[in-house]
Amino acid sequence: MAESIPSHEHDIIVVGGGAAGLRAAIAVAQADPTLDVAIVSKVYPMRSHTVSAEGGAAGVIKANDSLDAHCLDTISGSDWLADQPAVEAFVQEAPQELLQLEHWGCPWSREPDGSIAVRPFGGMKIERTWYAADKTGFHLLHTLFQTSLKFPSIRRYDEWFVTKLLVADGRCCGITALELRTGVMHLLGAKAVIVCTGGAGRIFPFTTNGAIKTGDGMGLAYRAGVPLKDMEFVQYHPTGLPGTGILITEAARGEGGILVNKDGYRYLQDYGLGPAEPWPRLRAMELGPRDKLSQAFIYERQKHRTLDGPHGDYVLLDVRHLGEEKIDQKIPFVRELARRYVGIDPVHEAIPVRPVVHYMMGGIHTDLDGATPLPGLYAAGEVACVSINGANRLGSNSLSECLVFGLVTDEARRINERYLHKEGGRERIAALRTEMQTAMERGAGIFRDETTLRQTCATLADLRGRMAQLRLEDHSRSFNTELTAAIELEFMVEIAEAIAHSALARTESRGSHQRSDYPRRDDARFLKHTLIYRTDGTPRTDFLTVGITRWPPGERVYGG
Ligand code: FUM
Repeated sequence: MAESIPSHEHDIIVVGGGAAGLRAAIAVAQADPTLDVAIVSKVYPMRSHTVSAEGGAAGVIKANDSLDAHCLDTISGSDWLADQPAVEAFVQEAPQELLQLEHWGCPWSREPDGSIAVRPFGGMKIERTWYAADKTGFHLLHTLFQTSLKFPSIRRYDEWFVTKLLVADGRCCGITALELRTGVMHLLGAKAVIVCTGGAGRIFPFTTNGAIKTGDGMGLAYRAGVPLKDMEFVQYHPTGLPGTGILITEAARGEGGILVNKDGYRYLQDYGLGPAEPWPRLRAMELGPRDKLSQAFIYERQKHRTLDGPHGDYVLLDVRHLGEEKIDQKIPFVRELARRYVGIDPVHEAIPVRPVVHYMMGGIHTDLDGATPLPGLYAAGEVACVSINGANRLGSNSLSECLVFGLVTDEARRINERYLHKEGGRERIAALRTEMQTAMERGAGIFRDETTLRQTCATLADLRGRMAQLRLEDHSRSFNTELTAAIELEFMVEIAEAIAHSALARTESRGSHQRSDYPRRDDARFLKHTLIYRTDGTPRTDFLTVGITRWPPGERVYGG
């Protein structure tokens, strides 16, 4: 007799309660108050990783700027892999969205004349980054969360962990989710599901990402047969604190901070990022794009010009010349983090920093409207990778088809049998996770080659097999964090495989994907997105043409 399971029905389910999830829910609620929207999040929304964004959000606002300039910066920054129609739509929409947040109460920092303040940011050749000191994510998330509370049609399921997308007759029609407080599996049916769960930085050992960023949403879609796109592109942010990986925002450099090596030398001038003088100058040096700055760190290390610390090699970020007043006004959080986590006051000493995994450019394959190839499934935010495909809006679907016991109890039984009731497993979560992270850092880090990538792929395939032997000590139901860590690890290993196999397939160097065995960009063969599909064995890769409209591929020039 099939186990009965509590079920709930909604018009739309949003998975994830960060900026993308809250914004999507608000958009639905505003568009049609009769639609009821569920936000299902494994953490309370204000604990979403958006809260730790610091430096700001880009949008054209000043008279010296233009939408085309923002487009070109974005396309060049992407090493011409961005789909240009998607970039144009994004750039056009961004200022209106940022103003909308202002109207909802976001306390953007101001110029002395009261207008919106903007700061320089990496890879942007004109200042266009709006900010709220250096706690932009905190204020933005608060603004969205408060706004979401105004809509009675939005219902929240806080601390519910989504384990599976339900698919019937070729459509996504809901989810299963573990209520963490009780350990009970629930079914939530919907006409459409929007995945907004963020990235997967925790696949790597050293990341700015919070512990919750384990690639769950990418894993959900991947298992449901949706391809992931451009997974080989993993962004290293050049300035994380050694040891913890805590982000020291690019705003520190936007405000004038400089990077020096062990000799006190501004080494970026050696890497095609412009001269050190006259200074400060936009477009140059510390305001180059993140991929190039992170690669420059590796070259400095090879030349033995980095410093050696208890947590590995590092360089120094110096903001002392900005003075205490400006530091406290513009980047107070940088001061707080440096004091608290490395015992250094940046007013008086330079901050040790090194590159750290920060952002996944790849994600669930979507079109410009966020629709995935699976009808009924959408994705937005870091979890998604937007493409040039046309709009593929969905009609409604019958919820009842989803509410069949077989679909639901399979998932409840899978979790029970694989984890909670399993006897005799010998593998431990922490050990497998460390092996995965080490393999990713070693084989799929800032520089990769065929040998290291093949080793990483082999290690990950082995780990995927060993996941079946996982042993849990905790068999309780309520807030079983060992169980959630096991489910997260299962997602992470699969996403790590998607990254490594995508990187193996792209035999060129482009942006954040640097193959030391293929050091050049190869537009003839690889001006294409990578698509990767899950199989029971080795993932399958394919390619998709990039949308090029007004900006033909060119050189990436910084500091000229
Ligand atoms: O958009 C960002 O990833 C910003 C990071 C930072 O503040 O440095």
